[in-house]
Amino acid sequence: MKVIEIRHPIVSHKLAMIRDVNTDTKQFRELIKEVSGILAYEAMRNLPQVLTKVKTPFMEVEVDKIDLKKIVLVSVLRAGAVMIEGILELLPSLSVGQIGLYRDEETLQPVEYYVKLPKNINGATVFLIDPMLATGGSAAASLDLIKKHNPNTITLLSIISAPEGIKKVNDLHPDVEIYTCAVDSHLNEIGYIVPGLGDAGDRLFGT
Ligand code: PRP
Ligand code: URA
Repeated sequence: MKVIEIRHPIVSHKLAMIRDVNTDTKQFRELIKEVSGILAYEAMRNLPQVLTKVKTPFMEVEVDKIDLKKIVLVSVLRAGAVMIEGILELLPSLSVGQIGLYRDEETLQPVEYYVKLPKNINGATVFLIDPMLATGGSAAASLDLIKKHNPNTITLLSIISAPEGIKKVNDLHPDVEIYTCAVDSHLNEIGYIVPGLGDAGDRLFGT
């Protein structure tokens, strides 16, 4: 399985606060942004680079720069939008696409309500951003949609993942690597990740 679980004391520490039911909306948002930056830092180790000439105060030198036009972030609304804010603090000029999906509470199937993807997605290195990988329905639907635009590669960044969601993405999209801060135990009877953090969108937006 193509799953990379980030193991680091700083991630564990922040994740502990994210999980805590007593963490308020403001702190929860800040933590989600911070952890998202760390996740992206790890997932972006092999970004496409270009050799560029730069003049230091002493001489001209060839250095590596990231080919920013070849990278696209796609967030799954609502919760992915807050993760994107954290990632844009590292690389503010990246193009960002949005996929609006919500899970039907009865069927747990994703319902699409909005899609806007940047033009440079064709041939790009794409990062799909959503804090929760539960049944995997939202991620699988988003991956189907993105693949219609012929990206080069897609990597999924999720803060907490369930084994059920990882299996679904691996089965349907074996080419997609998943970076996550934690693989939790299981889904409960209403499709929430346990122990999890609760409902990410509700905790981020105070709904
Ligand atoms: C959450 C989460 C994912 C989805 C994961 O969104 O942000 O998009 O659930 O569940 P799945 O793996 O079972 O599809 P939600 O549907 O609650 O929408 P919201 O962000 O608008 O609240
Ligand atoms: N969506 C959430 O926000 N939390 C879960 O645990 C599962 C899906």
